[in-house]
Amino acid sequence: MHLLVTGGAGFIGSVVADQLLQAGHRVTVFDSLIKGYRAAVPSGATFVRGEIHDRSALEALMTAGKFDGILHFAAFIEAGESMREPGRYFQNNVAGSLTLIETAVAHGISRFVFSSTAAVYASKDAPLTEADPIAPANAYGATKLMVEQILDWYARLKGLRYAALRYFNACGATPGRGEAHRPETHLIPLVLQVALGQRSHVEIFGADYPTPDGTCIRDYIHVADLAQAHLLALAALDQHPRLILNLGNGAGYSVRQVIEAARQVTGLRLPAVEKPRRPGDAAILVADAGAARRLLGWQPRITDLHEIIASAWEWHRTHPHGYVAAS
Ligand code: UFG
Repeated sequence: MHLLVTGGAGFIGSVVADQLLQAGHRVTVFDSLIKGYRAAVPSGATFVRGEIHDRSALEALMTAGKFDGILHFAAFIEAGESMREPGRYFQNNVAGSLTLIETAVAHGISRFVFSSTAAVYASKDAPLTEADPIAPANAYGATKLMVEQILDWYARLKGLRYAALRYFNACGATPGRGEAHRPETHLIPLVLQVALGQRSHVEIFGADYPTPDGTCIRDYIHVADLAQAHLLALAALDQHPRLILNLGNGAGYSVRQVIEAARQVTGLRLPAVEKPRRPGDAAILVADAGAARRLLGWQPRITDLHEIIASAWEWHRTHPHGYVAAS
């Protein structure tokens, strides 16, 4: 298939683009490079720089090349930032996605895989299934939920076949690709920046949550496993016109447990300092990904937290400045 990957210069999108190429697909990456890196785009992909809310750029792209499907990753993704600047999130994530979906449907593209999130759910002290209550704790999660709803209307009204994949906490690295957000706000890369001596300590955002050690619990899923689910979902759209699936390991780790695992992996002390809660954080988000396993035959391979952090550490150690060459 010829596939359009928006956000394919980002962390998850670039790993998916790479796996699609390895599976024999043709890939065009469309990315603004506001958050992504040109160097992350796999060499076998065609690269087009542009914004998802630029209808004429999308028209030109879809007129020039016939796409069999779209995998849509391009979005702003920081829950904390979305609580300070909600307008940017609604504009980019919701309005931009609507423009992309409208243009895709107008060009007869009928397969759409959407990067959604666990942040659509309310916090729960047990693994979340897709039937659990939807109640985003932050504006970021709300934007992803709105796009899911838009997709559902296009499925009903225009026959669009879509998969909304609700990621839990993507992390880890593949040999060529790792996590390098700018600015970095994610827990594991921040802890590893302490290991590299680039930060004096890591901050723990809230030690008074209703969890065993008082810190937030998340489900950390390796990016290669996450990426694999996209290829399976794309193929499954032929049988299932509408897929809404959680992607996680089903195991929850607290912020303190992640920092402790990183200490064991790196052999370093990694100082941590307790800080107040970060607005918009749910206490506990852990996946029940049984539906993805059943419907897609998906089986995550790298499920041990130490192994996940070790893969990230390998990438950060060998790319201490991310995709930017050391000066
Ligand atoms: N945290 C800290 N200190 C830090 C950074 C994070 O204590 O310096 C905590 C957060 O408060 C949270 C946990 O570590 O409890 C994980 O935070 P991340 O920022 O790494 O990830 P989030 O859980 O906020 O969000 C991530 C993705 C979202 C996705 C969500 C799904 O960024 O896109 O996982 O669970 F929706």
